[in-house]
Amino acid sequence: MSNKTTFTTLLLLIAIAIDLTYCYSALEDSRLISEYRKQLRDTSKYAKVARTLVHDADWASVGTISTDNNTLDYPTVNVISTDDNDINGKSTGRIHFLLTDLDFTGKDWKHDNKVSFLYTENQTGKCKARGVDPMEPTCARTLITGKVVEMDKNSNEYVNALTAFKQRHPSATKWMKTHTFYICELNIRNIYVLNFYGGPHNVPVEAYYSAVLNY
Ligand SMILES: *[C@@H]1O[C@H](CO)[C@@H](O)[C@H](O)[C@H]1NC(C)=O
Ligand SMILES: *[C@@H]1O[C@H](CO)[C@@H](O)[C@H](O)[C@H]1NC(C)=O
Repeated sequence: MSNKTTFTTLLLLIAIAIDLTYCYSALEDSRLISEYRKQLRDTSKYAKVARTLVHDADWASVGTISTDNNTLDYPTVNVISTDDNDINGKSTGRIHFLLTDLDFTGKDWKHDNKVSFLYTENQTGKCKARGVDPMEPTCARTLITGKVVEMDKNSNEYVNALTAFKQRHPSATKWMKTHTFYICELNIRNIYVLNFYGGPHNVPVEAYYSAVLNY
């Protein structure tokens, strides 16, 4: 083979290689695009699971870092009644709850404002109906972590949140008379949803708030 032929062959090989690379990236591109679309679909699916669990439940297990003498610094939990309705009973995803500093949670968040709310499908009785144990991944749950924000008593939002809360939890009217309860909203930092085998899914907070429930 002459030098010229060798050179031409080399050029040809490079051209083929470049072409192959190009073909490969076109395939890779469409794979990435479909992966991205799937993620978007999944995100809205999991956001809806979280919103449904929050809306259907009347309470959450709320974890805080304990300030109680006997359990100091241990993670601790409490039952806290919650509500995400607007005054027309429609889900907003905004988690409202009443706290009092006479109770564990009220003391804890003021010391360390890091809380986690756990909602499970077991609360609605649906897992039992399907014969699924609460701990199995197919009994859906959502773990919502964030900070407590005490609502401003002079805001319209406060009045509406409290009105909606009392509609779902009539006993709250009685609690408010003691003057030690205050209404709060969870400032959500992170959302996990587990509703099938394969591990938890992270739901962006915006996706959670923009999810639309069918009821
Ligand atoms: C909490 O613990 C401190 C130090 O051990 C003690 O002085 C205090 O009396 C305890 N308070 C209560 C309410 O038990
Ligand atoms: C929650 O799960 C347990 C165990 O499966 C079941 O006994 C209980 O009835 C469930 N709760 C509801 C409200 O269905």
